[in-house]
Amino acid sequence: MVNKTIIISNRLPVKIVEQDGEYLLSPSEGGLATGLGSVYKKGNNIWVGWPGLEIPEERQEEVSRQLAELNLIPVFLTADEINLYYEGFSNEVLWPVFHYMVTYANFEQVYWDSYQCVNHKFRTVVNAYLEEGDTIWIQDYQLLLLPELIRATKPKVTIGFFQHIPFPSYEIFRIIPWREELLSGMFGADLIGFHTFDDVRHFLNAASRLSLAKVSDNVITYKDRQVVVESFPMGIDAARFEQLTDDAVVAEHISSLQETMPGCKLILTIDRLDYSKGILQRLLAYELLLQTYPEYTDKLSLYMIVVPSRDTVPRYKELRDQVDQLVGNINARFRTLSWLPVHYFYRSFPVEFLSALYSTADICLVTPMRDGMNLVSKEYVASRADNTGVLILSEMAGASKELNDALIVNPNNIGEVMRAIVQAINMPVEEQKMRMSGMRDIVKKFNIHHWVRNFMDKLTEVKQMQESLLTKYAVKAVREQIRLDYEKAGDRYIFLDYDGTLVGFQGDIDKASPDEEIYTILRQLSTDPANKVVIVSGRRHETLEEWFGHLQLDLIAEHGAWQKHYGQGWNSLPLLTDRWKQEVRTVLDTYTDRTPGSFTEDKSYSLVWHYRKTEEGLGELRANEIFNHLKSAVTDKGLQMMPGNKVIEFKNIEVNKGKATLAWLYGSHPDFIIAFGDDHTDEDIFKALDPKAYTIKVGSNISAARYYLRNFEEVREFLKMLAETTRNSSE
Ligand code: UDP
Ligand code: G6P
Repeated sequence: MVNKTIIISNRLPVKIVEQDGEYLLSPSEGGLATGLGSVYKKGNNIWVGWPGLEIPEERQEEVSRQLAELNLIPVFLTADEINLYYEGFSNEVLWPVFHYMVTYANFEQVYWDSYQCVNHKFRTVVNAYLEEGDTIWIQDYQLLLLPELIRATKPKVTIGFFQHIPFPSYEIFRIIPWREELLSGMFGADLIGFHTFDDVRHFLNAASRLSLAKVSDNVITYKDRQVVVESFPMGIDAARFEQLTDDAVVAEHISSLQETMPGCKLILTIDRLDYSKGILQRLLAYELLLQTYPEYTDKLSLYMIVVPSRDTVPRYKELRDQVDQLVGNINARFRTLSWLPVHYFYRSFPVEFLSALYSTADICLVTPMRDGMNLVSKEYVASRADNTGVLILSEMAGASKELNDALIVNPNNIGEVMRAIVQAINMPVEEQKMRMSGMRDIVKKFNIHHWVRNFMDKLTEVKQMQESLLTKYAVKAVREQIRLDYEKAGDRYIFLDYDGTLVGFQGDIDKASPDEEIYTILRQLSTDPANKVVIVSGRRHETLEEWFGHLQLDLIAEHGAWQKHYGQGWNSLPLLTDRWKQEVRTVLDTYTDRTPGSFTEDKSYSLVWHYRKTEEGLGELRANEIFNHLKSAVTDKGLQMMPGNKVIEFKNIEVNKGKATLAWLYGSHPDFIIAFGDDHTDEDIFKALDPKAYTIKVGSNISAARYYLRNFEEVREFLKMLAETTRNSSE
């Protein structure tokens, strides 16, 4: 059996409509269904979702059979679930908040309860079809909890998640009472996709401020798994829209449209009924235009299609009334005996008619207040076979990031929208063609197939990356094997990081001094004549000297800038310069002045900016600012800038724990090497050492090391065991 992809969304791409007791199938509205509708049918793929209607139990089997012929699997929702999960939590909480309409949100506990239940319900259906090797692709905001729910039952399964609506800025998202649960639900995926980079940024920001996840670039580490977050701007089936313009039915529609409005410039708008679409503001701009430029009377026609949507949600009902009223007012005020300013349709149309409209319209007016992507704008562009026509596009639509040859407007600025319409009416054909052909190239290239391929390829890549980085836990049998090799060896090297490896991570850097237990372990290990024990730390050499100078240890301080063999004095790396410090220090000081709780630590060959005591989030923000500020200085001066645990460190590029470790081994041929470390500076050691050496990461299973231990206590236990072994074998 070939592996399949399971697409899951709240709504199936076809919906059931009842007519005289019969159930009929018809295409669903909305960008998600239309966009993915042409790609799911391949192979034995299936699509799981709600058929859009409450189906009584006795007829559910019949509906399932009907849908199965199209590879569709229904999730049946009860009237209560439709009311609380779909209309309630999805469309009265998440939709308004994610579209920045916070005052429209109703944070009802029952909505949340139902949202959780229905996400569980989806899991049950999916699990019944899920087979080994399948890929799961969850769509959109109605199913934010589903990735984690499926992951809990099938830990290894491949899960992609794509959100079709915007992800709001952290300040908005944090308002939701169940924000942490929503985030951790999404973290169950391997790859999380959004339409734009802004959405990605907002999501990563929320993840780092509201959850325990660690965020580094676009990778989130949560519960020992890595989740990648990327933007994938969704495209359309551009070839289909282009071909439609040659279709005979479309041609008929085109000529009847041209007959209905002779001599008029046609301005087209198509949206689902939604307050996020800016329908009222657009009508106001059109009204202002008719008022300001009476010469356009009977020269323009606004063809406005509003597709019924969510009309059981109060805000949508209210909007419908407002649109009806405003259209009525405009028509009543400006109409003539032979001319109607607004042709308004509250219904949906088959794609052939939409194509005819796209082909006929001189101007397409797309002015949402917020929109994840907006496919209508792309469909218009794809349908302009002769490159004429003008697209006016809101800067708040995801599509504006790609279609920047459109006339870009702020939809709240009614005057600006009006002026853009005037500009469009008067735009010379040459300019129209120049703008449109550029946009057509983009829409053709970044089409829906490209989008699916990109997402799926990235998902495979993420899976491989996770595998390659996954380190095994040093289980008892592994520890025993290491002990046996240790026992046999007569020339051993033991490399030990200090903070986070031998002791826990402390808020105050001056507090983590060694305790009696660690001294005993180190003393035991280092007095075995077969052992060379080396502390490899980022700490200053004065500190290591104070703490460990009296023991029989080799010491590597400041990541290798300072070194000391037991019984000799300290040496610094030759040819290192610290002249760069003055300039970097000045910059760091300006940030320290603006960031209470932060401070700069001055080491011989490095500077460390610490922010472990600053307000949550502020330190990260400043670290990013510092990063951007000093990026070019760092390259010019041959430095490296290393983000660490609540620190950002600057040092000479030659200084690196991996290099220092190799230098220690130079010329010797030990028969046993082991290295322990907890942060990314220790990764350099793990990568530098021979693959046969034992390398042990502390605290995380994502590492280049061969094995990991959970915490410094486990390291101590293990070292004690090795130290005992020395004694046993030498007795
Ligand atoms: N659409 C439709 N029937 C109609 C009008 C529009 O199927 O009568 C489609 C339109 O072709 C587009 C989708 O609905 O593909 C709307 O997607 P968009 O991304 O613009 O907005 P959304 O509804 O997803 O917010
Ligand atoms: C947008 C959402 C989709 C949704 C569609 C139609 O495109 O991103 O998830 O399916 O609107 O809305 P509806 O509530 O009718 O499914």
